[in-house]
Amino acid sequence: MKKIKGIILAGGYGTRLFPLTIGTSKQLLPVYDKPMIYYPLSVLMQAGIRDILIITNGEHMSSFQNLFGDGSSLGLSINYEIQEQPNGIAESFIIGSKFIGNDNVILILGDNIFYGQKLKSYLEKAKNNLNDGLSTVFGVKVKKPENFGVIEYDKFNNISKIYEKPTKPKSDLIVSGLYFYTNDVIKKAKVLKPSKRGEKEITDINNIYLSKKKLKLIILSEQISWIDTGTYGSLINASKYFEKLEDTSGKKSSCIEQIAYEMGYINKSKLKKIVEKMKHSDYGKYLERIIKNDI
Ligand code: DAU
Repeated sequence: MKKIKGIILAGGYGTRLFPLTIGTSKQLLPVYDKPMIYYPLSVLMQAGIRDILIITNGEHMSSFQNLFGDGSSLGLSINYEIQEQPNGIAESFIIGSKFIGNDNVILILGDNIFYGQKLKSYLEKAKNNLNDGLSTVFGVKVKKPENFGVIEYDKFNNISKIYEKPTKPKSDLIVSGLYFYTNDVIKKAKVLKPSKRGEKEITDINNIYLSKKKLKLIILSEQISWIDTGTYGSLINASKYFEKLEDTSGKKSSCIEQIAYEMGYINKSKLKKIVEKMKHSDYGKYLERIIKNDI
């Protein structure tokens, strides 16, 4: 069984959210009580991934390093690389080729939020696919598919093709920003030609796997929330959504410190150190309740 590494792509300039993102990275903007990047990081952690690479633009790398350091406080190993220009999502595998080495890899976009009880079981399925030599994408039904990679598929969930931002979408099922790939994705990314808009497209990578019958589709049920954070409105809605969820369930979602503790990545004394740093915030007080077995 090959090891799996995780990459979070958190570069780009966030121009669609200016002026919010003139002075900071999009993936560091708040979503309710935590920086956006906590959400994709929590997905990797729930998949059992502890070796993580964060790819950012040169300007913002130090902010991410201030936030996570080397990851050891969370029982993780976090590395950093710079993407000089937003040359496309598939460039992640070239930038991360050394980091990936001979392992398989999960890529998650730093602005993609996934949340739900059953998420872990979907992640397990995709990991099993990797063991069978198959890569996986996750499909989500949306109202405006034309803004995404749109999936053409049959009733057996077999994909026939994926179209990047088509004017006439063939379905309302789109590819979300979470991808599980076998190690050969590095080779595929290296030889991939940029699209007309000058980007190494992740959709082209997926279509290559598809043509070789090596791509699986997992459709996320409605119990999983997938939130796109591309507009001012969706950002606010995401914050409201997680605030409400905490109000009703009493639990924080995508809380990386809690996940690290529950997954056994850190022990109580390490969690206490984190709490000490955050004790003046409600977030810190929530973590304190975990230590006291109150949650
Ligand atoms: O969110 C899912 C969608 O993500 C997929 O359905 C599409 O197939 C895929 O192309 C992508 O579409 P987007 O239009 O959302 O991609 P965008 O250019 O906005 O980039 C997504 C995130 O990745 C964004 O936070 C910035 C980051 N990024 C993007 C590119 C192209 C980078 O860090 N570097 C890049 O070169």
